[in-house]
Order: sequence, then C-alpha cells, then structure tokens
Amino acid sequence: MDFTGADILSVNQFDRPSIERVFEVADDLRPYAQRKRITRVLQGAILSNMFFEPSTRTRISFGSAFNLLGGEVRETTEVSASSLAKGESLHDTARVLSGYSDVIVMRHPEAGSVAEFAEASRVPVINAGDGTNEHPSQALLDLYTISKELETRGRQIDGLRIALVGDLRYGRAVHSLCKLLAVYNSVHYKRVSPPELALPAGIVEELRQRGHEVSVYHELEEGINQVDILYVTRTQEERFPTQEEADRYRGLFRVNQAIYTKHCEPNTVIMHPLPRDSRAKAQELDDDLIHNPNLAIFRQTDNGVIVRMSLFALVLDVAEQVHNHAQPVTWYTAKRNPR
Ligand code: CP
Repeated sequence: MDFTGADILSVNQFDRPSIERVFEVADDLRPYAQRKRITRVLQGAILSNMFFEPSTRTRISFGSAFNLLGGEVRETTEVSASSLAKGESLHDTARVLSGYSDVIVMRHPEAGSVAEFAEASRVPVINAGDGTNEHPSQALLDLYTISKELETRGRQIDGLRIALVGDLRYGRAVHSLCKLLAVYNSVHYKRVSPPELALPAGIVEELRQRGHEVSVYHELEEGINQVDILYVTRTQEERFPTQEEADRYRGLFRVNQAIYTKHCEPNTVIMHPLPRDSRAKAQELDDDLIHNPNLAIFRQTDNGVIVRMSLFALVLDVAEQVHNHAQPVTWYTAKRNPR
C-alpha cells in the first residue's frame, strides 16, 4: 500500500506488509507518545477532527497524536454544531474543510458516509467509524496490542485463537478486527453472541473462504476457554431500532474475575475496544478484573495514540523525518505519587 496522500477508509486496504509498516513506524514513535522526547515534524499542519457521533478515546487520541507530531487540531463534535444541521451536504462540507486542513478525521453514524465524504475531499480522510460498518484505526490499534501481548508470551499472530464476545452484529470495531486478522494464517474465531447479534454472514463467509476456522457459541463459558485473546464488546444500544430491543441484551454476557479464573487459560489476554458499559445492569467486563495483569484494555488505549501517530506520519509522508525535528522534553511528565 502507498500511504502517501491516501485515504484510510477500510481495513480491506491493508495487506500484511502495510500492517507491518504501520507497526514499525508506531514502534519508532513510542518515545514521543510517552513524552520522552518531542517532535515538531508537523509544525504548521492542520487536522480537522470531525466527530458527528459521541467519542472519547478516538477523538482525543487522534487529536493528541497530531499535536504530539507538532500539528494543530480544529474540532467539530456535533452535527448540531456544524452546517450539516442546515442541510449542507457531505460533498460540500468536504470541499470546504479540505481547503482549511492538511488531513481530516471523520466519524459519522451512517455506513459509507466517510467514503462519500472522502470522494469530495482534496486532502486525505481517515475513517474514525462509520455507522456499523468499519473502524479501521481501532482494528489497527487492537492488532498492534495483540501482537505486543503475544510477543511477551513468545507467540505470533499466525495460529491465533480469539473469542469475540457480545454484540457482534452492530459492533464496527469487531467487524474491522475480524477482517484485519484474516490477513494472517490459521486464525480460529470463536463467536459468542445471542443468535440475533451474530457476526454478519458476509464477514463469516469471507473469513472461511480465506481458510480460517469460525465457530459459534451461545453460552459464554463454552466459547472463552482455550483462547489467546478474549475480546469483549459492549451492546451497541444506540444502533438498535428500539430501546426495548436493546434492553433485551443488556447484561447477557458478563466477564468477571471468577468466570475468567474458572474458564480461561491463565495467560488469556482480555481486551475491549471501550467504552465498556459500567452501569449496574450491563457490566460486560467487570471492574473486579482491574488487578488481573492480563487485562490489556488500557494498554490498548495507550497504543491508540501511537498507532494514530503512525497513520498521520505515513499519510503525510514524514515518517523518516520525525527524529530530525526532535527535542528533549522540558516539563515534569508524571504524577508525583500515582496510586
Ligand atoms: N473505541 C472507541 O471508538 O471509543 P470512543 O467511542 O470513545 O471513541
């Protein structure tokens, strides 16, 4: 894949060498993400960070990633705060914003909307989630996390065994991760969901055609044993036709420390794209796992900044120049007495 000036819209754009390139640049940028050094390689560049759906980590980490490379960020966080609310089309919005920016990150509730926007944009566009369709940067940071977690266990991604738990129908992060993992060899996908929230048939078919094993479970305990990765997802309540329907699935699958100890292998890595639903009746990933060293959810979120820095560095073609613009950090970078 030639990254320079490219839109990043779907994980289908990535083959194994291009994933490895994203990860190689991410590794190189880690000291800057960790505030060990600073770089001004994108000084003068502007990111338009357009989020037409709620977000915490994707929006802030894309913005932080751009700032950490020395660039500036302009944000819109609601349809109601933009002229889309006055009937302006995605086409016109894209033409306008691409005159103000060097790159645009966009999240939108409609599947395919970010691709439509990118068609009209004169600068690269990165998909930060379009409806139930795709969340490519989340899949890349999830895969990066999986590779790092496996590395500490002396393992590679080929031959991975992963349990995917929860709402596999509406969860775009899980759709993108499944497709991205398919570029590796002999992955065993164990799907654990109610039948109504199953992974879309088209994705299952694609995984099988590419030679992977895909099995299905309706009971949590059966699906989560003998896996390397336990990937838990939230019920995407905002995507259900009615709240009544969403209510049926709340709290159906809950992973806690007791269930983990009883049914998972001792080294199984626990992941979640977040946000997890911590309300009393949901709790798909219980707070009591917080002391479990295999809980990787906050390593995932930290990796989100690094992987998104890598995407900017590649798309704007500065990956080889980062260190030429480096300086030491001049401020105190930690909390004095962290708990
Ligand atoms: N994982 C994820 O997309 O989180 P946000 O919705 O908070 O961005």
